[in-house]
Amino acid sequence: MSSIRYSFVVMTLFSVLLTRAYGLPKVRPIDDVQPNKTVKIHNKIRAEVGVAPLVWNKTVAAYAQNFANRQAKAGVCDYSSMRHSGGPYGENIAAGWVQPEDQMSGPIAANYWYTEKRNYDYATNKCKGECGHYTQMVANQSFSIGCGSFRCHDNELIYIVCDYYPMPVGDANTRPY
Ligand SMILES: *[C@@H]1O[C@H](CO)[C@@H](O)[C@H](O)[C@H]1NC(C)=O
Ligand SMILES: *[C@@H]1O[C@H](CO)[C@@H](O)[C@H](O)[C@H]1NC(C)=O
Ligand SMILES: *[C@@H]1O[C@H](CO)[C@@H](O)[C@H](O)[C@H]1NC(C)=O
Repeated sequence: MSSIRYSFVVMTLFSVLLTRAYGLPKVRPIDDVQPNKTVKIHNKIRAEVGVAPLVWNKTVAAYAQNFANRQAKAGVCDYSSMRHSGGPYGENIAAGWVQPEDQMSGPIAANYWYTEKRNYDYATNKCKGECGHYTQMVANQSFSIGCGSFRCHDNELIYIVCDYYPMPVGDANTRPY
């Protein structure tokens, strides 16, 4: 009986070491989101085009995290199964690999969406390529933001979901600012 206990302890130690060796997540979702930094980056980008800053919205963040939790539970773990929550907010989603190091977070997502700025032509209000994430970031109709995150079931990807309130509305002629 004591030998059974002994091997159980060994197994436990072994699996802890394996976890360390493979670099499985050490951080909690809120650390992936990094609310303050994410807001700061958005506000720098908005200031560039004269748009008022966003504030963090806990209600919106709870909504985003709830959606993230449902995605995690459903085992969403590839780019093709990424989808929008279909809720009452504007929404940007990004995903990045966990390995070899965390390649996605709220700030990384914000900086990635910002790269679409060059695709947006203010004069015609059109995108050359993708720019919808950028135009949401700088939309002057939105004044608050909340984000959530999840890591997919086998720890391959980190997802970031940011929701914006109010959702910008208008037609093709409505500029974000
Ligand atoms: C984040 O920002 C809030 C509001 O400005 C502040 O109260 C809080 O201390 C900040 N947290 C961190 C970790 O910087
Ligand atoms: C935060 O979001 C809630 C729900 O959408 C909204 O009612 C509230 O006015 C928002 N607060 C701020 C500061 O934007
Ligand atoms: C937001 O941008 C639109 C389009 O340029 C503009 O008509 C509107 O006045 C702006 N609103 C604010 C609050 O700046």
